[in-house]
Amino acid sequence: MPPKILLTRRWPDAVEAHLRQRYDVTVDPGDRPLSAAELTEAMGRYDAICPTVTDRIGAAILAAPNARVRILGNFGAGFEHIDLEAAKAAGIVVTNTPDVLTDATADLAILLMLMASRRAGEGERELRAGQWTGWRPTHLLGQGLAGKRLGLVGFGRIAQATAARARAFGLSIAYYSRRRADAGVEAALAATHIGSLEELAATSDVLSLHCPGGPATRHLVNAALLARMKPTAILVNTARGTVVNEADLIATLSSGAIAAAGLDVFEGEPAVNPGLIALPNAVLLPHLGSATLETRTAMGMRVAANLDRFFAGEVPHDRVA
Ligand code: 8YV
Repeated sequence: MPPKILLTRRWPDAVEAHLRQRYDVTVDPGDRPLSAAELTEAMGRYDAICPTVTDRIGAAILAAPNARVRILGNFGAGFEHIDLEAAKAAGIVVTNTPDVLTDATADLAILLMLMASRRAGEGERELRAGQWTGWRPTHLLGQGLAGKRLGLVGFGRIAQATAARARAFGLSIAYYSRRRADAGVEAALAATHIGSLEELAATSDVLSLHCPGGPATRHLVNAALLARMKPTAILVNTARGTVVNEADLIATLSSGAIAAAGLDVFEGEPAVNPGLIALPNAVLLPHLGSATLETRTAMGMRVAANLDRFFAGEVPHDRVA
C-alpha cells in the first residue's frame, strides 16, 4: 500500500499528478486553511501531512494521541508555523523547500523596491480612478535607486540573490546578519558587513528584510529602529509580517518619517491592517514572493523528493527537524 499523504491546499496540477503516481494522495477540495481540529484529526489518518504557511501546527496538534503521521513535508522555505521542538519530541520529521524559491522571491523584493521608489501603486490607482490629468514635470515624482545603499537584514540565499539584482540597478550593498558571510560571498557582491542593525537602518536608503520569522525576530523593526532610518528611506518586507511592528510602521509612514514601504507579508495575514491600506506610500502585495508557476511547481517537486527519500528509509535532503 502506498503511503497516505495529505496536501492541505491545492498544488500546481503537474505536482499533484506526480504525487498521485507514487502516493495515496488526499487534497483538501475546499483549498482553505484547515482548522486545528481538522489537522489533529489528520494526524491520525495519514503517514505524511504536507502543510503550508497557512497551517499553524503547534504542540497540541503534534502531540495528538494515536498519531500516524511520521513526516511533515512543508511546502515553503519558512517553517515558523510548525513547532519544531514539539515535532522532534513526537519523533516527526519536518522538511522544507529551500533554493527553489530564491529567484522568485528576490525578484519580488526588487519589484517592491521599484514600485515603492517610483510610486507605481499611486500612479496606477490614480489612472484607474480616471484622475490622471496629463503629463507634467512635477507629477508623482519618486526617487531613483542608482547610487543608493541597499541594506539587507539577514544574508541568506534570498538576500544574496536580491543583492545581485540590486547591483544591476546601481545600488551598493550592505548587510547585517548574526553570522558574517564568507569573504568570497562578500567580495562577489561587493557587500559590506555592518555590525549592528541600528547602524544598517541609519545608513540605508532601502532596508530589505530577509531574516526568518518566529519569536527570535518578532518586531525586530519597531518604532526605535524606524526612527533611525532616513526620511527618504524605503522599507521592504518579503520575509514574515511578524518581523515588523505594523502599528509602529503605520505611525512612521503616516508622519513621513520614512518615505515608503513595500510589503508582501503581514502580521495578521490574510487580514491587512486598515491603517496600512489607507496609506498611499505603502505598496501592498498578497504574499506573492514565490508565486510563479515554475517556482510553485518546483516547490512541490522538492516536497515530493523529500517524501520519496523519507519513505525509502533515507534522510530527506531538506530535513529541518
Ligand atoms: C510560500 C514563503 O508561498 O516559502 C516561504 O517561506 O513565504 C512563500 O514563498 C509559502 O510560505 C508557502 O507555504
